[in-house]
Amino acid sequence: MGGAILDGLRAAAPAASVRATTRTSTANRPGVESRSTESDPGANRWAVEGASLVIVGVKPGGVIALLDDIADALDPDALVVSVAAGITTATMESVVPNPVVRSMPNTPALVGKGVTGVSAGSRATAAHMARARAVFELVGWVLELPEDRINALSTISGSGPAYVFHAMEQWTTAARELGFSDEHARHLVEKTFAGATALLDVSDVGPAELRRRVTSPNGTTERAIAVLDDAHLAEIYRAAAEAALARAEEMARELGH
Ligand SMILES: NC(=O)c1ccc[n+]([C@@H]2O[C@H](COP(=O)([O-])OP(=O)(O)OC[C@H]3O[C@@H](n4cnc5c(N)ncnc54)[C@H](OP(=O)(O)O)[C@@H]3O)[C@@H](O)[C@H]2O)c1
Repeated sequence: MGGAILDGLRAAAPAASVRATTRTSTANRPGVESRSTESDPGANRWAVEGASLVIVGVKPGGVIALLDDIADALDPDALVVSVAAGITTATMESVVPNPVVRSMPNTPALVGKGVTGVSAGSRATAAHMARARAVFELVGWVLELPEDRINALSTISGSGPAYVFHAMEQWTTAARELGFSDEHARHLVEKTFAGATALLDVSDVGPAELRRRVTSPNGTTERAIAVLDDAHLAEIYRAAAEAALARAEEMARELGH
């Protein structure tokens, strides 16, 4: 995720001074100075010294130790933005004296089509939020929301790419069962999903109307949709969303926040 943001930053602001750290590998991106903590234990402190914006992209379990390490090396005005799931701004604020923002991007950020939720910590001003928004707008669309809504957002857009892939898997199986080869089944489904979302992108109507337009009365699509509706998919999706939300809340408790 950190790499996706880094690529977005490099593309949008090639002249910006960017430092990146990893644990074992090095970022190896043109125009990015990078160090690993394995070869330089002070790498994270080096990275944040004098920086006005610090993006924390480690796994949730590593955030507190990382913030603890960099706390007194941070510029007092630096904005700290975390992408870690389950780590609250209050927890971050208890470790660093800086303004903090919590975010929840999703993997299409890798291709500049991410959806990111951003929530302000208690010290973050409107200007800080504008800065955080601007970062994630480099890799897609951004929704600012109160922190108590970020798990709900994660349930929809954070996990969302997996739901789309899951639906594609089901349709690929159905295509194989209709006699298509693995390769043709994949192409039929993947290109149909990509085409449908591209069509939606340029349409001035939503998915319900676009669906209606392919569903002729008494036609083949209508029969398929009737089967899906009879399976009470709306309730199943609601139950799936509730399960993901419950797990997000459980994980936050496991992380102790
Ligand atoms: N993937 C998603 O869909 C997604 C969505 C939203 C939010 N997030 C959040 O993004 C964060 C990272 O997830 P990810 O999937 O991108 O994980 P990842 O691929 O494992 O990336 C973590 C990176 O942090 C580096 N790292 C670990 N400890 C470090 C330390 N102490 N100092 C400096 N660098 C360190 C790792 O370096 P090495 O590679 O050398 O180990 C790696 O480059 C998580 O907090 C997750 O909650 C992920």
